[in-house]
Amino acid sequence: MTTQQHLFPGRFDGKVLLLSGSAAAQEGELMGFGGATAWRFLREGGAAVVLTDVQDGPGEKSAKSMRDAGFTAEFAHHDVTDESHWETIITGALEKHGRLDYLVNIAGTQDTMAIEETPVETWQQVMDVTNRGMFLGVKHGARAMRRSGGGSIVNLASMAARWSSPYGAAYAASRAGMTHFTRGAAIQYAKDNIRVNSVLPGWTKSPFTKWIFTDEKLSKYRTDRVPLGRWGEPEEIASAILFLLSDDASYVTGSELLIDGGVTAGFYPPVGD
Ligand SMILES: NC(=O)c1ccc[n+]([C@@H]2O[C@H](COP(=O)([O-])OP(=O)(O)OC[C@H]3O[C@@H](n4cnc5c(N)ncnc54)[C@H](O)[C@@H]3O)[C@@H](O)[C@H]2O)c1
Repeated sequence: MTTQQHLFPGRFDGKVLLLSGSAAAQEGELMGFGGATAWRFLREGGAAVVLTDVQDGPGEKSAKSMRDAGFTAEFAHHDVTDESHWETIITGALEKHGRLDYLVNIAGTQDTMAIEETPVETWQQVMDVTNRGMFLGVKHGARAMRRSGGGSIVNLASMAARWSSPYGAAYAASRAGMTHFTRGAAIQYAKDNIRVNSVLPGWTKSPFTKWIFTDEKLSKYRTDRVPLGRWGEPEEIASAILFLLSDDASYVTGSELLIDGGVTAGFYPPVGD
């Protein structure tokens, strides 16, 4: 971790959090956004976390490591594109924990090809995991949160929602879809005391980007384009997610929180130095 992080003890007392795409959550190993968010949520008083992912082995190990540390955590196999999985998992969380307060839609996949090289199946897969998965999560998560008296949902988009590239035909479009869906959901669920926001990370070290940051050339190309001069850490994305989940963000809904070290603020590096 490159920055000092502060805990807010008691911020999530009694609350229950579900995170999709959160298998990589073992401390001491390379963690995803879900893992960093889950650990800090538990340390700030959270009653229980439900980790879900298609990767069962790492997910089970992650949940066990949290239980071994004295917290309440479980893992459920979950393909976010399958509505029946959402129904089962959310019904199970309500039965087991009595409530669901927060949902973070993290599951994601990426494509790296130019438009004419991209098979339609690849386009569809990216759209399904990010957009269909998020839609199903909000649909079933909001139902459970209404029963709990309200809640907060964060959708993990990307700076690619604002800033595209010649590669990844579906990725940027799917991320922009996430931020716009978020605005509609925020308006729809405000009456139920459910806030919905999106987070737009820049280049952050996680399993998702290991193939990039472990390649010197690919990594440097990106570092050189970050005004803050480095990659982000999952804990820095978790800070933003937890802010939006918490009552600290009680008047924030339908918003996008960009956490990209300044990449999309403008042209960088300076020309002509
Ligand atoms: N790391 C970055 O630099 C970065 C930047 C911007 C956006 N993001 C987005 O943030 C999200 C989280 O990424 P991360 O960095 O925590 O990496 P991560 O690889 O730990 O998380 C993504 C998880 O999604 C899971 N997943 C894929 N398809 C799924 C499906 N159909 N159902 C359920 N789970 C599925 C994967 O198994 C993986 O565990 C992703 O959506 C990614 O696109 C990451």
